[in-house]
Amino acid sequence: MDKLAILCVDDEQTMLNGLKKALRRAVDNEYLIETLECAQDALVAMDELWQDGYDVPIVISDYIMPNMKGDEFLRRVHALSPKTRKIMLTGQATIEAMGYVINHANLYRYIAKPLDLNDFNLTIKEALNSYFQARKLEQFYATLESKIVQRTRQLHEKNQQLTQLNQTLSEKNDQLIKLNQEKNEFLSIAAHDLKNPLSAIQGVACVIESDYDEMPKEEAIEMVGMISSTSRKMFDLIKNILDVNAIESGKTKISLQVVDILPTLQSLVAQYAYQAKRKNITLHASETFETSDVLTALVDNNLVHQVMDNLLSNAVKYSPHGKDIFVRLSQCKNLIHCEIQDEGPGLSEAEQQKLFGKFSRLTPKPTGDEHSTGLGLFIVKKLVKIMNGNVWCESGLGQGATFIVEFPTDKN
Ligand SMILES: Nc1ncnc2c1ncn2[C@@H]1O[C@H](COP(=O)(O)OP(=O)(O)O)[C@@H](O)[C@H]1O
Ligand SMILES: [Mg+2]
Repeated sequence: MDKLAILCVDDEQTMLNGLKKALRRAVDNEYLIETLECAQDALVAMDELWQDGYDVPIVISDYIMPNMKGDEFLRRVHALSPKTRKIMLTGQATIEAMGYVINHANLYRYIAKPLDLNDFNLTIKEALNSYFQARKLEQFYATLESKIVQRTRQLHEKNQQLTQLNQTLSEKNDQLIKLNQEKNEFLSIAAHDLKNPLSAIQGVACVIESDYDEMPKEEAIEMVGMISSTSRKMFDLIKNILDVNAIESGKTKISLQVVDILPTLQSLVAQYAYQAKRKNITLHASETFETSDVLTALVDNNLVHQVMDNLLSNAVKYSPHGKDIFVRLSQCKNLIHCEIQDEGPGLSEAEQQKLFGKFSRLTPKPTGDEHSTGLGLFIVKKLVKIMNGNVWCESGLGQGATFIVEFPTDKN
């Protein structure tokens, strides 16, 4: 609570004494009552009161005073403290002077001399009342305004957050739509790829069922063989689809360990050398294969096997009869470097762009009636990536293809 003061100016000391007495009766004891004989001193006193932390709700001034008259004095008080209630004592004040203070000092009341104590009492009480009510109202508006500012800011922030959330939601929605489209496409290609072999199996099975008695044994064996090889292809496709699904849903089991790559590659080369021989294709392994160097990488051994199996099977699958395939393994700084080079049809720049996509069966076709799903390299790319490696193809149309895979060593 502020300290409170009431200031009175009159050039007659007796009047000041009377005012002081009357005020003492009208207001609480806590009010300081300052009385001054001249307006200039009163302005200085007002200033000091403010500096001392006083609130001055009422200033009472005589009109006729030497140097500065009451109207001018109250005008100045008003300029300094508009809310202070200003009361003028009028004995000889002219109409003009009254008009002046009313207009320029927002005069609260004028009181005729000599004082009518009852009227004075009432006037002072009313003036205080009106002053404090105005102050309360002012404080109320100030807090209201700051509350409005705060709420507006909060609303604005919330609005921004909402806009941002909306944008993320819309982006996520677009992604979902795209993923759903991809899934549908994937499903329709997979279903189509399974439909043909399945209807072939069905057809052959029907023939065996109806002609079983008259069918020569060799023919029956051939048909069963067809069922067996076709169902194997379907099994391969389903295995690929499940691999893709596991990769895309982040469920591929992976355990990175320090592994010597060489034995895996050696066993795959031995396995494919046998298949290649049927096409008169020769597999050449680099000298590294003969040395006892250990080429260790930080990988998952099963996944490395799957990756290299895919690349070697492609080299054999797409190479014409009588060609050579070169397999190289080396270490360069912190990378194990595997290369599989063939002398097949190679791939144009445009087809190389599509090579690692889903179901991308391109211009080169299997040369020994092997099965093609178009998913092998897509899986290769994803598996290499989750092992922190890199895979790419270097090729030109008619110039063979070299597939290169790099795996990080354990020294990274
Ligand atoms: N070594 C290669 N030489 C030429 N073309 C290849 C080679 N490897 C892959 N391709 C082409 O890339 C396509 C995608 O290969 P891949 O994803 O392994 O599927 P798939 O072998 O089941 O067809 C193949 O259909 C083929 O046209
Ligand atoms: Mg393949």
